Amino acid sequence: MADLSINFAGIKSPNPFWLASAPPTNCGYQVMRAFDQGWGGAVWKTLGVPIVNVSSRYGSVDYRDSRMAGFNNIELISDRPLSDNLKEIEEVKKYFPDNAVIASLMVETKEEWHQIIKDVENAGSDGIELNFGCPHGMCERGMGSAVGQEPKVLQTIVEWVMEVASIPVIVKLTPNITDVTDPAMAAVRGGADAISLINTIQSIVGVDLNTLAPFPSVDGKGSNGGYCGPAVKPIALNMVKNCAQHPEMNLPISGIGGVENWKDAAEHILLGASSVQVCTAVMHYGFGIIRELLPGLENYMNEKGFNSIEEMSGAALPNVVEWKDLNLKYKVVASIDEVKCIGCQLCYIACEDGAHQAISISANGDRVPQIIDDNCVGCNLCSLVCPVEDCITMERRDDGKLDVSWDDLTQKGEIPTTFDDDRAGGKGHFVPKPEEALKRKK
Ligand SMILES: Cc1cc2nc3c(=O)[nH]c(=O)nc-3n(C[C@H](O)[C@H](O)[C@H](O)COP(=O)(O)O)c2cc1C
Ligand code: SF4
Ligand code: SF4
Repeated sequence: MADLSINFAGIKSPNPFWLASAPPTNCGYQVMRAFDQGWGGAVWKTLGVPIVNVSSRYGSVDYRDSRMAGFNNIELISDRPLSDNLKEIEEVKKYFPDNAVIASLMVETKEEWHQIIKDVENAGSDGIELNFGCPHGMCERGMGSAVGQEPKVLQTIVEWVMEVASIPVIVKLTPNITDVTDPAMAAVRGGADAISLINTIQSIVGVDLNTLAPFPSVDGKGSNGGYCGPAVKPIALNMVKNCAQHPEMNLPISGIGGVENWKDAAEHILLGASSVQVCTAVMHYGFGIIRELLPGLENYMNEKGFNSIEEMSGAALPNVVEWKDLNLKYKVVASIDEVKCIGCQLCYIACEDGAHQAISISANGDRVPQIIDDNCVGCNLCSLVCPVEDCITMERRDDGKLDVSWDDLTQKGEIPTTFDDDRAGGKGHFVPKPEEALKRKK
């Protein structure tokens, strides 16, 4: 049986699921409700000198039938007095000594850092997370992502923190940077115990076409906010992977961004995370999603034979290589299941206009398109467009005996080097003549 408990940089938690620092961890009442329902840990809403928030704070991208496919906020850190938060942390730890309570912090001066660290340690926090990610408001005052974007400043502040901290320190990174491993390495050099990522991505989710103000609008004006939720998972996964694969990364990683179900969490873990944090999905559906997360992940681990999160963490990393190392001889071709096909012909138009003109439709009224094997480059587009599950599958056509990468070709001096080189991959591929565009018009 898989063991879901973790020891994350010294922070013990009954399972890897933590609430991210955000509205769901605003107060003790919420954190107690979450622990009661099965959450392993909670990163408290960021504490510092309390702020004043604007009213109207969230915006979202609704995609077709999905509400909040992407979520955006212009909220700042906690607006509640520090002493109230500290009392509630103490209270939560009394009721739930085995759950992880991590205090997220953001202050300005060295003295403030030293003071607030002592305060949250005295309150019984199990760990500290340094919020170097907030991409609005706080960064205008030299905090949040303003620190996360300056590795040297980040390192200095981590060093200040490490001078006094006696509990594990996690550095939370901003994705609003070209190479996230730069601040990650600064955290390593500063002596941090772990990193977490991602915080929100700077964004504008839309503009009100009547008032001309961006959403969310505050008295007719708006500001860039922080983007999160399902839409950001691919960016988060890539950044978690980048940190995990960095040769000098020796710290545990807490994966954050777009986790809504156990599969999302499993992906973060397989790419190197060893705890997972959730915000938007809880804001959308409530703490109860833990009832799907826990058994889902446990079943998967049992099926795959992972005995612990530690064993599972990073298991996909050996399969994430650079493009130059991929096998150029691997060849797939689309195949349509005629029984499943509903004849919508979305695949045809996608391939005809957006890919490689490798799907034909018959003039005799048969709605099921045909793949022209010789023209198909195996790009996957039609299978992604097709609305019927497993109707278009990609079939392997090479014999699996050859493995030749771009790197191999480069070493053998066999890559195209001139503009009209015969060794180009598309040389000899079928392409209709331009005039055909008018003749074939449907
Ligand atoms: C309304 C809102 C407020 C947030 N406040 C904080 C905060 O105070 N401190 C922090 O470190 N991150 C904060 N975040 C970022 C989240 O902790 C998390 O990094 C981000 O939302 C990505 O996770 P998700 O895709 O599960 O939402 C906030 C996010 C939202 C949506
Ligand atoms: S998109 Fe799928 S269902 Fe529609 S015609 Fe193509 S194969 Fe058939
Ligand atoms: S895989 Fe790409 S090239 Fe092949 S049929 Fe589908 S869309 Fe066309």
